[in-house]
Amino acid sequence: MGTATLNLEGKEYELPTVVGSEGEVGIDIAKLRSSTGAITLDTGYGNTGACESAITFIDGEKGILRYRGYPIEQLAERSTFTEVCYLLIHGELPNRDQLDRFNHDLTYHSMLHEDMKKFFEGYPPSGHPMAILSSMIASLSTYYPGSSRDEAIELNSIRLLSKAATIAAFSYKKSIGQPFIYPRNDLSYTANFMHMMFAVPAEPYMVNPVLEKALNLLLILHADHEQNCSTSTVRMVGSSQANLYASISAGVCALSGPLHGGANQRVIEMLTRIRDDGGDYQKYVRMAKDKSSEFRLMGFGHRVYKNFDPRARLLKKHADAVLSQLGIDDPLLEMAKNLEEVALADDFFVERKLYPNVDFYSGIIYRAMGIPTNMFTVMFALGRLPGWIAHWKELHDDPKTRINRPRQIYTGATLRPFVALGAR
Ligand code: ACO
Repeated sequence: MGTATLNLEGKEYELPTVVGSEGEVGIDIAKLRSSTGAITLDTGYGNTGACESAITFIDGEKGILRYRGYPIEQLAERSTFTEVCYLLIHGELPNRDQLDRFNHDLTYHSMLHEDMKKFFEGYPPSGHPMAILSSMIASLSTYYPGSSRDEAIELNSIRLLSKAATIAAFSYKKSIGQPFIYPRNDLSYTANFMHMMFAVPAEPYMVNPVLEKALNLLLILHADHEQNCSTSTVRMVGSSQANLYASISAGVCALSGPLHGGANQRVIEMLTRIRDDGGDYQKYVRMAKDKSSEFRLMGFGHRVYKNFDPRARLLKKHADAVLSQLGIDDPLLEMAKNLEEVALADDFFVERKLYPNVDFYSGIIYRAMGIPTNMFTVMFALGRLPGWIAHWKELHDDPKTRINRPRQIYTGATLRPFVALGAR
């Protein structure tokens, strides 16, 4: 273990350093306050390691993303979403028996308690499906109370992965006034989701294998991304020993914001707006650069990736393939490519290292699959579930876990006496 030296007001302090398996160096400041009286200030946590984690590795400068050591490109090409769920949650790829068992369990826990169906009656048809997803996930804990026993955690993880897909599909059916379509045990996780979303009782529905493959890819690419806003939220809530459902329901809320997962919906809204406004990309690039305008290029920029987002590269490649296989010609895909080209040639974006992120092309594929725009972030959440579960479990199993409780630098009023109402 190395050390770093801090010189504070003329006095030197030795701080231990930790080095991760990929050579990342962290300065351990656990004793900083007790030895110096000072704390660190890092608004937005751009330089703060909140934990040690063995789940996902990102090198934002080189555009590297690996789940449990496996490159995202290989997982995207060669695995299925449920294999990736198993990998993230259990740490290793499953063998044939383990995968069969896992898929079986996912299938057999996909039905919702019949009483939960009634909850949907209480939401307005226009209610955003992310709000419905988060409250329904929180409600699952009332049916399956938490327990810290390993078997109970395993079972609740399966239930969550499985029932969240049913909740998502039911919330869509509710919004369009169609009857709920119950899960089918003979279908794969992804095919079953498509079936619950798009089948109607009046006629048979065949799942298009192109759509099933595309959904697998999208879910895999979203499955984990180390300490992003929603995952950190899950860990923050979980650190108080709140149960899995409560912690992940909070993660869904964090994901819904437009600077995080909500960006995929905003990208399509932005592209549509540019199209309806005559297709002048330059105008919108100018607006994004103008500090007096609040407009940002949605789907552009990332806290960690400063060269390219490997997920966006894969999605751009697959967007072309999926649309041509489905025989769809979406003008928004062309629009997105043109916008990317214009922005990437512009000094403002080059200097700030702003590139398309995962949300930039994902919406084009979701659209081609027939998924409505307000469901895009729900799709992101379904993909991110195994990551959230893996992080919650890692935190739960780590004996070093303490409740997360940051400090602050207080900038408010100093001591002053109370002023009586009549004297104010
Ligand atoms: N359009 C225009 N300018 C941008 C954009 C953008 N999309 N993103 C960043 N910038 C500019 C900022 O104005 C800032 O400029 P300045 O240095 O002159 O002040 C600089 O680039 C750095 O931006 P920050 O906001 O400080 O970067 P931060 O790391 O805090 O934010 C974020 C990252 C939230 C992703 C940001 O790039 C953004 O708002 N992007 C659009 C929303 C989006 O696509 N979010 C999805 C992110 S990926 C995900 O969560 C799945």
